[in-house]
Amino acid sequence: METITESLLRSLDPPHPKYNNGDTSSFAHKSASERWPIIITQVVDDLYRAVQNLDPSETPKIDEGKRIIESISKLKYDETHDRALEALQEDGRADIAQYNDELETLKHPTWFNVPWLFSECYLYRRIYLHMSRSQHWKSYDYFFRSKDSSFKSSGKAVEELAVRYKNLVQDLEGHSYDKMADQAKKLLFEEMSQISLWGNATDLSLLTNLSYEDMQKLQGAEAIKASQKNVLANDIDAVWNGVMKDLRHGRVDIVLDNAGFELFADLVFATYLLETQHCETIVLHPKDFAWFVSDVTPRDVAHLFACMSDEDYFTDVRNREALQFMTERWMEHYSEGRIIIRPNAFWTTAHPYTRLPTLAPTLLATLQESDLVIFKGDLNFRKLVGDAAWPTTTPFSTAIGDLAGKDVRVLAFRTCKADVCVGLPRGRAEQLDAEHGALTWRTNGKFAVVSFHDGKLRRDS
Ligand code: F6P
Ligand code: MG
Repeated sequence: METITESLLRSLDPPHPKYNNGDTSSFAHKSASERWPIIITQVVDDLYRAVQNLDPSETPKIDEGKRIIESISKLKYDETHDRALEALQEDGRADIAQYNDELETLKHPTWFNVPWLFSECYLYRRIYLHMSRSQHWKSYDYFFRSKDSSFKSSGKAVEELAVRYKNLVQDLEGHSYDKMADQAKKLLFEEMSQISLWGNATDLSLLTNLSYEDMQKLQGAEAIKASQKNVLANDIDAVWNGVMKDLRHGRVDIVLDNAGFELFADLVFATYLLETQHCETIVLHPKDFAWFVSDVTPRDVAHLFACMSDEDYFTDVRNREALQFMTERWMEHYSEGRIIIRPNAFWTTAHPYTRLPTLAPTLLATLQESDLVIFKGDLNFRKLVGDAAWPTTTPFSTAIGDLAGKDVRVLAFRTCKADVCVGLPRGRAEQLDAEHGALTWRTNGKFAVVSFHDGKLRRDS
């Protein structure tokens, strides 16, 4: 395993400063000062509830749970009082050494004088460490309850998409997809991509800002159409013309983001690719453990399938038949190996993907086998471009650094929820600043980018 040194990181990271929690004008600062304490409190509350629900005879588990609650409360104190980030203790996983090496290169920073991306990943890793080092709480997901209750409340949007999906599959069975006009195929691709893109707008970690009504609006089909104008940089034509149009029986990888409705939307998109036979295989990349509040773990995938076939799960759904149709279809794709779930420890490191070719060569080799790798959501985008203060006009291909020359087709579906943005035409950022306020358009989740780099294109031919 590669040792993390300052000079290695300098050679792989962007040539611009990284967003830092210490910059009081940044969303990084807002996030560290306002949102993280709330998130840590949610973890404590959830654990408290879990401990309360245990049978009093489970003393060792109860006692251990109480100790974990105490340590996580101390973490909140340390974070809000700008204490130093402690070295992580070993739990047998290889990423700990790299987290600690990077802490060394950062010269033992405090919470408000540290790069945002590194410290945020460190925060979620440190919370998980309490479980991985425990005896009785190893597989406990303290975000599961909130992921589940949010999915439960998206019944209407789920139903709407399930009906759309059933109609689509039946249409495809009635008419040959191959005979459809190219323009119609392209429209369908755009529509399905939009579903997957805006599925990300319901990120649970933003719920402290977004109202339930906002969520419903973002999830509805009307909003999907209307919000096309909010895609600030849109490479979807290049993806269609350069890859999808002629792709038959190919493979698409999706580096997942959030569970619940977003995962549901991603599965709609993924299975559309299978139904039309553009793809024969879809590889899904979830996280190994509870991450950034709402991210998908393998258990969340299984849970989604279970909810879809549970008659009592969504209380407001009328067209159960559409949901049933969809679930059976998905289960078939899954059990026949066309949908594959492939976790990898790299996704829960703090590394930006500019370091991926050097630090995760085996993962790189897997991604190279794919016809297209889609990175979902904001965090994946921040990692792709190193969460650095790039000028907003920087081409996406430049910002992804070392990953650009590595024979991988990289497509980001990202709704904007952080400071960084690239790929915009000259003058656009200034216009958005004037219209919406500098931080607002970058972080409120109402704007998006669809950014593509074709790493398989031979630039010399
Ligand atoms: O809004 C801040 C934040 O927590 C970021 O840290 C992170 O990039 C994002 O939200 C998570 O969003 P997503 O689920 O789209 O990656
Ligand atoms: Mg997420």
